[in-house]
Amino acid sequence: MNARIPALILSLGLCAAAAQAAGGPAVERVPFGRADGKAVDLYVLRGAGGMVAKVMTYGAILTELDVPDRNGKLDDVVLGFDHIDGYLSKEPYFGAIVGRVGNRIAKGRFTLGGRTYQLATNDGPNHLHGGKKGFDKVVWGAQVVPGDTPAVRFSYLSRDGEEGYPGNCSVTVTYSLSSSIELRIDYAVATDRDTPVNVTNHSYFNLGGAENGDILGNVLTLNADRYTPVDSTLIPTGEIAPVAGTPMDFRSPTRIGEHLKEVGASPVGYDHNFVVNGAGGRLALVATVYEPRSGREMQVSSTEPGVQFYTGNFLDGTITGKKGVVYRQYWALCLETQHFPDSVNHPNFPASVLKAGDTYRSTTIFRFMAK
Ligand code: BGC
Repeated sequence: MNARIPALILSLGLCAAAAQAAGGPAVERVPFGRADGKAVDLYVLRGAGGMVAKVMTYGAILTELDVPDRNGKLDDVVLGFDHIDGYLSKEPYFGAIVGRVGNRIAKGRFTLGGRTYQLATNDGPNHLHGGKKGFDKVVWGAQVVPGDTPAVRFSYLSRDGEEGYPGNCSVTVTYSLSSSIELRIDYAVATDRDTPVNVTNHSYFNLGGAENGDILGNVLTLNADRYTPVDSTLIPTGEIAPVAGTPMDFRSPTRIGEHLKEVGASPVGYDHNFVVNGAGGRLALVATVYEPRSGREMQVSSTEPGVQFYTGNFLDGTITGKKGVVYRQYWALCLETQHFPDSVNHPNFPASVLKAGDTYRSTTIFRFMAK
């Protein structure tokens, strides 16, 4: 293994210890049960406007996000469970960090440096969100980060061969709040062998509150002139197509339900990667979602070149979430900032291979307002 990887993890731990000694902003740590044979902790971050973010070491999952509506009333706007047991059952990645490669790799196969790799297949013929035991199903290390704003950094060492991927990868994901009502997520990955990397957060948002019903009346704007059409197994065909004249056109504010039935997919709904205008390496506006009843608006910006817009098509009423609420189809939306699905097999897509010795860095900000 690359000697720098344990050194990186050690230095992260020392930084956090220094932060606590320096008395940075209070971040509360509470026990949240056990998973994968280990104790799980939940970190509670409190920020502007009464905002609260709760993130746990299992899957680095965002379990709760309380933000104010137009009257200042706080509601939890992400789907999930009250107890860890829900997250240990078969569930669709609520709030999780997904990787090593989020979204799909066709047939779980790719060729790199003249060698073909076969990954775990866990979504029909394809590899999805890192495989059978991806980053969402492991217990991460965690440290409070020094500074003026509440922040916690999760770390995980993904070993060479895990789920079939080459190389030892040292991964850190930092959740932080700021003086605005916003949640920032910073990702960093280092590897000792070339490997595809695409890490994202898989939160299911319902800005009216997690038990508010469907999101079809939410108004969405996507900063995307183009998208990547998919086949029947949701693998991109390789084409980068204009959204103009299709149900994918959210360039001006549009109700999500407006053209949803026209999306030729099964189950019906959006589950597509959009190409973010002007993105790739620097922060760009990705999307704005407005929920008329509460007045909440969420602005998403990211350094990632793409975003998976998913309308919870596979939620089918079989999952009971927080407060005993049954989650039904379209009860939430995901905006997963990312490299395009199956990038490793499409030379015309932005490259998703992290070279040995390089560091992958990515930032996404979810900013909240109410009007
Ligand atoms: C995928 C969906 C999938 C969902 C939950 C999304 O990123 O694109 O097809 O059902 O995650 O796994």
